[in-house]
This record gives sequence, C-alpha cells and structure tokens, in this order.
Amino acid sequence: MKILITGANGQIGTALAAALRDRYGRDKVLCTDIYKPKEDHGPFEMLDILNVQRMSEIIEDHHITQVYHLAAILSANGEWNPKKTWNVNLNGQLSILELAHQYQMDKVFFPSTIAIFGSTTPKSNTPQHTAAEPSTVYGMSKLAGELWCQYYHSRYEVDVRSLRYPGIIGWQSAPGGGTTDYAVEIFHAAIRQEAYTSYLSEDTFLPMLYMDDAIRATIELMEAPAGQISIRTSYNLSGLSVSPGTLYREIKKHLPDFTIRYEEDFRQKIAESWTESIDDSVARKDWGWRETFDLSRMTQDMLAHLGAPVRPET
Ligand code: NAD
Ligand code: SER
Repeated sequence: MKILITGANGQIGTALAAALRDRYGRDKVLCTDIYKPKEDHGPFEMLDILNVQRMSEIIEDHHITQVYHLAAILSANGEWNPKKTWNVNLNGQLSILELAHQYQMDKVFFPSTIAIFGSTTPKSNTPQHTAAEPSTVYGMSKLAGELWCQYYHSRYEVDVRSLRYPGIIGWQSAPGGGTTDYAVEIFHAAIRQEAYTSYLSEDTFLPMLYMDDAIRATIELMEAPAGQISIRTSYNLSGLSVSPGTLYREIKKHLPDFTIRYEEDFRQKIAESWTESIDDSVARKDWGWRETFDLSRMTQDMLAHLGAPVRPET
C-alpha cells in the first residue's frame, strides 16, 4: 500500500498526513501540494492537481495505490475566482478519478462538505438524501464531485469513498479560506488575549467537528469493508452544532477576560444558506461512526494544546 495525499499542507492534510504516517509508516504516505511544507515530516513532491502529466508520473514513480484527494479552494476564497475554483475543484477531482481507474487503484478518498446544501435544504437534522441547491461555486463543484464519485464507482468500480465534512476545528493547523474558519480563529485570538471580531453573527449555528474525530472518521471509512459502504456519493457526518456565541461563552469559562464583537461580512450569507445540524444516521449504521468530542471537551482540548490554562468542569 502507498498513499498519495493532494493538498497535504492544508488544514486537514497536515493532521491527516501525520495520522496516516503514524498508522501505516512514514514512507507509505507521499504528501503533495503546490507549495513546500514548512517542516520536513516525510516524503513530499510538488504537485498542482491540474498538471495531469505530473500526477501520472508521480503515481507511477511511487507505485501509488490509494489517494486522499484534499486539494481544493474553499467556500469563501472560492467566491473571489469562481472559474478557477470550479477548475481546481472539479477538474482536479476528475483527473484523480480517471487515474484511479487507469491505474486500478485500491481506494480513493474525496472530502465533500456541508456546502453542497442550500436554501432549499431542511436546516435542522438535514437528512442524507435531500434537496441540494448550493449557492457558492465551492458547493456546486463539490456536489458535482459527489456525483462523479458515484459515477466512477458504478461504471468503473473505482472504490471511491467520501464524507461531507462539517466545519473542522483543530489546533494542529490554520484554516484555509472557508466560511467556518472563525471557529479556529476564535481560539487563537483568545490565547493571544485579543478581542475577537466574528464575521458571522452571534446566533449563526453551523455543523462542526473536532479534527481528531474527523481524522478518525476518515480512516474508519477508508478501512471499512466495501460491503458496508452503501453511499457512494458522500456520507453525512456530524459532531456538534455551534454558533460564534456558544463558542465564545464556552471559551470564556476558561479565559474570563475574553471579549468578542460581531461584524458580519459576505460569509454571513454563505453560512445562512447552509444547514445547522446534520442527520448522520446512515454513517452510524453502515460503518459505526460515533463522534467523541462535544463542545466542552473540544474546547478544553483546543485550549490545552494551544497553551491556555484550562479550568476543569465543575
Ligand atoms: P485548505 O485550504 O487548508 O488546504 C487545501 C490545500 O490544497 C492547500 O494546502 C492548497 O495549497 C492546496 N491546493 C490548492 N490548489 C491546489 C492545486 N491546484 N493543486 C494542488 N494543491 C492545491 O483546505 P482543508 O481545510 O485542509 O480542506 C481539505 C479538503 O477538505 C478540501 O477538499 C475541502 O473542500 C474539504 N473540506 C474541508 C472542511 C474544513 O472545515 N476544513 C470542511 C469540509 C470539507
Ligand atoms: N469549512 C468549509 C468551508 O467553510 C466547508 O466545506 O468552506
């Protein structure tokens, strides 16, 4: 087994690469991205996913058998250059699927997102199968990507598996231009003893998941027997549902001087088009998904890793 990760220097790639290397061995995981990593943690190659020739060479040279295709432009950054976002997100993924088919790879992981949902989607406890009319180019590209996953699975038997990640919160890495970035930034502001200015309103609830749970879900999905995978578009996945207000009040329990103010920007409208909570019962039934971090435990773990004094629960 030899794993290729695209977009490996990003928020999720940083944590996922470390977890996969711990599990399968340092040299079994080849990280790639369009810029070099700050620190050397193992094998790395520069790779723009739009360069199909280079991707093909890397797959051959390194005898790649699995791909975790993380490279993408996220929801907020995507709105600055819609055509580039469509190109990177969708055509990059199509190249991966095609090469996985050509080289008869064992498995491919594709991260989808809650951004595939839109204003016609039920906001609360959003079902696995539901209306999906996204308003961002990021959401449009990921929704199309989900359908291409299903197509390559049913037509060419490519074993591609996917999760609709909620916003991911983690201490390991900085977020990369999404609408949910505030949920990481707020912790860093609190640690620096700075007031935080939230670009989402106090009561904008969004589904979120702690990085440890997200990484574990990814590995559990990829290691599940193929017969247990009933969803070949992408699985709903849920952990917690939080707003800037709830997160602020939870952090304040540990850092009582922390302050926040609210100044909405264009990301507010994006967040309002998404859902507030997710029904992930299909993932629970098919391959036994369970989250382990609630708001309180996540906040304590984040603050502890970032170096803040944490007050035990009373
Ligand atoms: P990120 O923006 O932090 O990282 C993406 C990485 O892709 C970056 O390192 C970037 O340099 C790289 N990249 C961009 N264009 C590229 C190209 N043309 N070729 C190769 N690499 C390129 O994103 P992330 O948060 O780590 O997300 C990883 C994946 O998970 C993405 O597909 C994203 O859509 C999905 N996802 C993330 C979240 C989240 O909250 N972080 C939620 C849902 C889904
Ligand atoms: N966290 C991501 C974003 O905000 C959701 O895919 O773009």
